Amino acid sequence: MKGESKLNNVVIGVVGGLGHIGLIQSACLAGLGYNTIAYDIDKEKIAGVLNGKLPFEEAGLQKLVRETVNDGLLKITAQIDDLEEAEIVFICVGTPSLSNGEADLSQVYQAVEQMARNRNRHCLAVIKSTVPVGASAKLTAHLKKLNLSNKVTMVSNPEFLREGSGVEDFWNPARIVVGSEIKEAGEKVAGLYAPDGVPVIITSWESSELIKLASNAFLSTKISFINEISILCEQVGADVRTISKGIGLDPRINPHFLAAGVGFSGPCLEKDLQSLIDQFKKTNQKARILESVLEVNETLRHSVVEKLLAELGRLKDKNIAVLGMAFKEETDDVRQSHSLPIVQNLISQGAMVTVTDPWVKSPEQAGLSEDVLPGVTWVDSPYAAAKDKDAILILTAWQEYRDLDLARIKQLMANPLIVDGRNLFNKDDLKAQEIKYQGVGI
Ligand code: UGA
Repeated sequence: MKGESKLNNVVIGVVGGLGHIGLIQSACLAGLGYNTIAYDIDKEKIAGVLNGKLPFEEAGLQKLVRETVNDGLLKITAQIDDLEEAEIVFICVGTPSLSNGEADLSQVYQAVEQMARNRNRHCLAVIKSTVPVGASAKLTAHLKKLNLSNKVTMVSNPEFLREGSGVEDFWNPARIVVGSEIKEAGEKVAGLYAPDGVPVIITSWESSELIKLASNAFLSTKISFINEISILCEQVGADVRTISKGIGLDPRINPHFLAAGVGFSGPCLEKDLQSLIDQFKKTNQKARILESVLEVNETLRHSVVEKLLAELGRLKDKNIAVLGMAFKEETDDVRQSHSLPIVQNLISQGAMVTVTDPWVKSPEQAGLSEDVLPGVTWVDSPYAAAKDKDAILILTAWQEYRDLDLARIKQLMANPLIVDGRNLFNKDDLKAQEIKYQGVGI
């Protein structure tokens, strides 16, 4: 779907324009009819995108990029000067975790500063990157010190896009949040793309920044909550899937983010939670709930390995097939995927590990250097992975795995055992195939 631009003749820039959020933002704004300039330093990536090869999978994005580039609405460039005509520039660069959990803002500072130095006209610099509370104020003070504040006014406008359905989420947001010191600047950014009828919150920089972090922290909390309940389910003979259904039918709770399993991972939830915990520490407060959320997540992540160990007696020299490397289904993203530390745990215990994923076919494609998963064999299908194995460990909830031909799997395996970190199956179906089965909280 393409919408309609709400403000006429506004040229928009996007820094970090070929990153995951940056490219969705650029293509969707161009899809709304805005002249959009996506700036990125990676010339190889730019050439790839212009040739129809996106750096990552995202439903509907390739088509939208192609159409908007062809329409002349989306321009992709490695020249920062090209941003001069943009009066609103979105900052979509990475904010990775430092070892103490703190978010590293160096890319954001560099992007804003470089952009300000390379322009003559004033613009609104809109922070899409997820930043700690106070970042917009600090950036403003920083620009003032450099005598660049006449070039840039900071606005916060967090994103709530899920990987895999980012384009869809852009068209159908649950809300638009904008933080600004200047009311008109906030209204202008919200007015750019808030669809009719969607709630808009225009607030302070700090509240806007914290809405984003608190949203992700709350989603993480829901997952760890149900995962904690799953631990008790296993002790008392209850089924956590039925518990999720039973509590989720209460509209005050709702059914989303109550799927128990190996927990949350990926480039966002864990990093943002760590950043929020770090912000509590910096203000001499303790984030008691949030620290527990992280602790439960870590416990559940490795509980599947404990289950394998309990079933097999030891992992040394055992052949284990791991199904799922992406941090969730419908993405090829393995950044901070739970599968990496879990496979590393298996390797460290002496297991021989074969991995497979429908969209991640090799360590090179995943961007993993050789030393991340040493000695691991990558194969093309779950059936190739299952051959002669002592156990299968399921880590990502791909539909392809839900649809597995269990009779074929049983025949292929040396020892029919499935430990299912995503609760994809019914125990009875596995029993009928005489495959030993362990889920999470079932
Ligand atoms: C998350 C948020 O959902 C988005 O709103 C936010 O914009 C984004 O982070 C971001 O900050 O950029 P995303 O990381 O793409 O989106 O993925 P989610 O769909 O939230 O899933 C995160 C993890 O939680 C995955 O590992 C998933 O398997 C796991 N999960 C999710 C569960 O274990 N159980 C659930 O019930 C739901």
